[in-house]
Amino acid sequence: MPGILGLTICLIFVTRTVYGLDNGLALTPPMGWMHWQRFRCLTDCVAYPDDCVSEKLFRQMADHLVDDGYKDAGYDYIIIDDCWASRERDKDHKLQPDPKRFPSGIKALADYVHQKGLKFGIYADYGTHTCAGYPGSINHMELDAKTFAEWEVDYLKFDGCHSDILFMEIGYTLMSKYLNQTGRPMVYSCSWPAYQEPLGIHADYDKMQQVCNLWRNWDDVDDAWPRVTRIINWFSENQDRIAKYSGPGHWNDPDMLIIGNYGLSYEQAKGQMTAWAIMAAPLIMSVDLRTIEPNFKSILLNKAAIAINQDPLGIQGKLVLRSNKIDFWTKPLSATVDGSKSYAIGLLSNRIDGFPYRVKFTLAQLNMTNTNGYTIRDIFDSVIVSPIVKPHEVMYIRVKPSGAVLLLATPLPSIINVNSV
Ligand code: GLA
Repeated sequence: MPGILGLTICLIFVTRTVYGLDNGLALTPPMGWMHWQRFRCLTDCVAYPDDCVSEKLFRQMADHLVDDGYKDAGYDYIIIDDCWASRERDKDHKLQPDPKRFPSGIKALADYVHQKGLKFGIYADYGTHTCAGYPGSINHMELDAKTFAEWEVDYLKFDGCHSDILFMEIGYTLMSKYLNQTGRPMVYSCSWPAYQEPLGIHADYDKMQQVCNLWRNWDDVDDAWPRVTRIINWFSENQDRIAKYSGPGHWNDPDMLIIGNYGLSYEQAKGQMTAWAIMAAPLIMSVDLRTIEPNFKSILLNKAAIAINQDPLGIQGKLVLRSNKIDFWTKPLSATVDGSKSYAIGLLSNRIDGFPYRVKFTLAQLNMTNTNGYTIRDIFDSVIVSPIVKPHEVMYIRVKPSGAVLLLATPLPSIINVNSV
């Protein structure tokens, strides 16, 4: 019997080690900063010393995360994307950073980030090369996982360029095993659906949920509103298939926030924040924090929008109504009153007629049925829109063209109902 018991324990251990990503991380959608959308693969530090992908850039961004209130708001990961590595591995086949741009080495950069009370992330690729052509991990996954653990990495974005999409599930699962074996908990961001889904292949989300903390579902965002809306539309078109896989520890990832860059107006920036908050998406900013304008910064730091995104239930909100080219999204929240849930409501306009369109709807149309009614607050304007709205009462909200309104609906208890009659 002891032999069988021992074997059973051993099997449980092996099973957990091999297949389970049991790292206790990302219980709410990860928040942080990543360089790709704003700084891409700019490696010429002679011509562009302030903008090139270098340790100086990440130290500066870490400083700004802390000094400008982002860390306090929850943005606590600083993540290097592609183009940090040297073109060659070292003599022991280990990945090494470009010596000119990261002269102090990655461990020193991680130490700097950790001393600021932040967490440190890095990028690698499952294939032969990264998307920008730097060394890939395919033949060195175990070594790379160990190297990242030695460098005290807290988050790995593992991309999938230059690999065979049919082997991705196996490869990503193997990397999860190697990460677990290091004993260092690291958030594991996968990319395999981003390569399979655009080809019409439905990724295995059951599997992904077991081995990844988050996964890029689809194409890259770029610095333009149509790139944001095509991602939002893909998420709504596929919501019944994918939304259920988001939750504490494992998230669908529509890609970075581009708020504060060149492509989005103020209204569109509120649109991205609204959609990302409702979809419980990772909030990974990619913007120059040294020069961001205050109005965009205030969107990124909006406490109530962040609280919706970070709600502990971790439910991915869905598109529930389309009316007069305004999309209504809702996300159930953890706060309840007399058993009735609170909701976030996002109104996203697909209209281009240049005035704030007055859209008519009822809360009942959004499946909100608390008969005592709800108090409705506007998150970005920080005002109570209406103290009491009954489910079948007609409401009007004005939404600016290609803009958004984010509302919080808090259910009212019956006592208020009695008093108010
Ligand atoms: C892919 C990813 C991007 C970024 C680049 C880097 O395109 O989807 O997010 O990491 O690679 O080369």
